[in-house]
Amino acid sequence: MTMLHVVDHALLAHRLAELRDAATPSPRFRKLLAEIGAILTLEATRALPSRIARITTPLTEMDHQVLAAPEPVLVAVLRAGLGLMEGGMQVLPEAPVGHVGLVRDEHTLKPSQYMLRMPPEVRSRGAILFDPMLATGGSAVAAVQRVKEAGAPSIRFVCVVAAPEGVAKLSAAHPDVPIYTASLDEKLDHRGFIVPGLGDAGDRCFGTV
Ligand code: PRP
Repeated sequence: MTMLHVVDHALLAHRLAELRDAATPSPRFRKLLAEIGAILTLEATRALPSRIARITTPLTEMDHQVLAAPEPVLVAVLRAGLGLMEGGMQVLPEAPVGHVGLVRDEHTLKPSQYMLRMPPEVRSRGAILFDPMLATGGSAVAAVQRVKEAGAPSIRFVCVVAAPEGVAKLSAAHPDVPIYTASLDEKLDHRGFIVPGLGDAGDRCFGTV
C-alpha cells in the first residue's frame, strides 16, 4: 500500500508556486522552503500519539490532550533537506537533529553517502526525514535505510515535489514509511529531473551551480 499524502493547503500551494518560479532568487527560495517545511511538518505530525492529562487553567481543572511521547528526531538529507528542515525545527524546536549526507551522481543517478550523524534519541522516538525532491527515489531509499539502521522504530518522509517513479520506488522498498509531499508532479526527464519540478533544490537553496 502506498502511504502517500499530497498535502492540500492554500498557503502551501501559494508558496510552492513561488518556489517553482525560475526567477525566485536564492535567499527567497530558502525562506519559502523553510515555510513549506513548517506546513508539511504540521501535517506529518497531525496524528502523533496523544494521551489525556489533567491540567489546571486559571479557572478550573480539565482533562486535555497532550503528546504521549517526546517529539520525533528531525533528519535532513544534505544539502537541500537543510532548508526544508529549518521549518521543521521551528515547529518542533526541542527535537534532536540528525544529518544524512547523500549526493546523486548526475550520470548514473545513484546516491553515495558522505556523512551520517544521528542523535541516540532516534532509537526511541522515530524520525521525520526531510528532502525537498523525491526524484528516482534512490536517495530517499538510501536515507530511510540509514535511519532504520540507526534504530528508528518509525519514519515519516517529507518532501516538496515527488515524481511518480520516486513514490513507487520508496513505497516498494519501505512500505511502512508514509510520504508527505506538497505535490505529486508529472514525471522525470532524461536527466532524472522532476518535471515540472523546481530545478535543483540544493543549488537553488545555496546559490551553487
Ligand atoms: C537531490 C535532492 C535529493 C536527490 C533526489 O540532491 O535533494 O536528495 O537529488 O534524487 P533521487 O530521488 O533521484 O535520488 P543532490 O544529490 O543533487 O544533492 P544536493 O542536495 O547536495 O544538491
